[in-house]
Amino acid sequence: MKDMLPDNLEHFKRLIKRSLTTLLLISGAMLSGSPSQAQTNTVWLDQLDLSAATQGYGVPKKNKTVDGRAFSIAGRTFERGFGSHAVSMLTVLTEGKARSFSALVGIDDEVKGQKPAAEFVINGDGKQLWSSGVMHLGDAAKPCQVSLEGIKKVELVVNDGGNGDYYDHVEWVDAKFETIGVSTLKTYDPVPSTPYVLTPKPSASPKLTGAKVFGVRPGSPFQHLVTATGSKPMTFTAINLPKELKLDSRTGLITGGALKAGNYTVTIKAKNAKGVAQRILRIKCGDRIALTPPMGWNSWNCFAHQVSADKVKRAAHAMVKSGLIDHGWTYINVDDFWENNRDSKDSSLRGKLRDEAGNIVPNSRFKDMKGLADAIHGMGLKIGLYSSPGPWTCGGCVGSYEHEQQDAEAYARWGFDYLKYDWCSYGNVIDGMPENDPYKVSSLSYRGGDRLNTAIKPFKLMGDLLRKQPRDIVFSVCQYGMSDVWKWGDSVNGNCWRTTNDITDTWTSVKNIALAQDRSAPYAKPGNWNDPDMLVVGQVGWGNTHPSKLKPDEQYLHISLWSLFAAPLLIGCDMEKLDAFTLNLLTNDEVIDIDQDPLGKQATCVQTIGDLRIYVKQLEDGSKAVGFCNFGLEQVDMTYHDLAKLGMKGRLKVRDLWRQKDIGNVDVRSGNLKLKVPAHGVLLYKFLPKV
Ligand code: GAL
Repeated sequence: MKDMLPDNLEHFKRLIKRSLTTLLLISGAMLSGSPSQAQTNTVWLDQLDLSAATQGYGVPKKNKTVDGRAFSIAGRTFERGFGSHAVSMLTVLTEGKARSFSALVGIDDEVKGQKPAAEFVINGDGKQLWSSGVMHLGDAAKPCQVSLEGIKKVELVVNDGGNGDYYDHVEWVDAKFETIGVSTLKTYDPVPSTPYVLTPKPSASPKLTGAKVFGVRPGSPFQHLVTATGSKPMTFTAINLPKELKLDSRTGLITGGALKAGNYTVTIKAKNAKGVAQRILRIKCGDRIALTPPMGWNSWNCFAHQVSADKVKRAAHAMVKSGLIDHGWTYINVDDFWENNRDSKDSSLRGKLRDEAGNIVPNSRFKDMKGLADAIHGMGLKIGLYSSPGPWTCGGCVGSYEHEQQDAEAYARWGFDYLKYDWCSYGNVIDGMPENDPYKVSSLSYRGGDRLNTAIKPFKLMGDLLRKQPRDIVFSVCQYGMSDVWKWGDSVNGNCWRTTNDITDTWTSVKNIALAQDRSAPYAKPGNWNDPDMLVVGQVGWGNTHPSKLKPDEQYLHISLWSLFAAPLLIGCDMEKLDAFTLNLLTNDEVIDIDQDPLGKQATCVQTIGDLRIYVKQLEDGSKAVGFCNFGLEQVDMTYHDLAKLGMKGRLKVRDLWRQKDIGNVDVRSGNLKLKVPAHGVLLYKFLPKV
């Protein structure tokens, strides 16, 4: 017994300990709550960090509309919610801890008089859980209630309702999650914001850059700048330059005129203290110009209605000073608002629209158009202008309607090299729509129609008139892709034509425009380019600039795609505010060479693997440029072995164009390619046949 007592005691102690542990566990469980018993909380959407949301315009607002007003949907007011602008997306990490989400959704009354349309969608772990259907202004707030049991990631999305995102002021009001055991939720933006530079600086030894082929019409004044990177001073020489032309050995500027039709093969040399570079420049004197997509700058995406001759000259200076000019950037294009306006309150935009003889009178900010053109030419650059075939431009300035010949002659007299001709109020001419609709609303409504001849007529008129001028003027047709412009753009002497609506510096805008390019791709060729609109990198903002809202990876993707598309490359930012990241994006000669490739083919999407879209562009030297483009929100990390599907054969050298680095050889039949493509990012590779 004596011996047993301690044993029993031990047993007894163990028993008590075990019971106590069980008791503690039970009470612990009761305190913390098992999933079914845990405490439920109401977590309001407006209590979360909404800055992770991306949206088409403005910034995400708590308890206010995107314009900062109190919420009002079809006359009913609300106090709490998330005010946004389509296309918008907010990702909330619910991690299985939310039971449900409920809200009312709608379009705010603050856009009265406009025609917004939007669709609200809730996705859970990649599946659509609810959709509002397309909603319009004046629709009563629509309730939504979804179960989120077990769901880890919720996306609150607002799409544009099918008519663009104009005036889509949208909101999720009285929006809340019922959560289990947690009192807040994390929002999340999966695309990183920190800029990173991929491209090494050009070396000090000379390297010729820019277009390898240049088109001019017989007899036209000739201006082409030979460009190179490398330390300055640089000396340029040319072998076999036609006698009608001369090369300025200090600047590289070739000028002259009266060249006869024919093909000229010129050897260009660039020499500096570090060495010599040599390359062939093909000059094709014939019917066609813009043999590679135009590259330059346009005032609209930064200055919009605030453009002036002074700002344009400063942009040109910045093009030179920043060194962009050494990479082939050429045109300095003045967009809308160089003309007088019919209803602006700004006195510098008011004045005689035309003189007694009907000649257009530029507004007071553009007193000397010829002087401006001369100044830009003096810098080795070229200059462009803007007008509309209708009576009014999109901004309500005077258009060319019934003065086409006078205007075309004026552009040539002043020395302009490029005209963007923008549909806008021409819809009024056809439909007799109200005169006081200077903006795009009426022309938008026309977009559905396919009255082909009517659509072609005003562009044919101006295109033919430009051809009659004694200088080459690149003709940029701007009517947002109506009536399949790519099928007839060449017949009106168009050199490029917009294929889609206006771009904005948002992921949705760039993505949607990119996805719409394949249909017109077969029509791209030297002298004819599909134009997905201007670049939205750097400080942009249509009169009130801010850093582009595109994330760094989205910007790499944007520039890669536009180069693959053989698109006109028109920088849209404030040139005096170029930062290192933006300069890096715009000065990679190997990427620019993809855009400027003389074969003039446009890439198309050849293969899709989930969110990865693979674009392939055939190049003149027999190699291929390939963009592995990730349109999704997760990094793509895979081994790719479908090169044969991209039309490749044999053994190939693979070069990473953004990093300007060879990454090895691959055998198409047996080889595998490791791909790591960031969310909304790109790998831009060139595959060269191995000899
Ligand atoms: C739009 C055009 C823009 C800009 C603007 C000027 O229609 O697409 O790129 O030119 O007009 O008012």
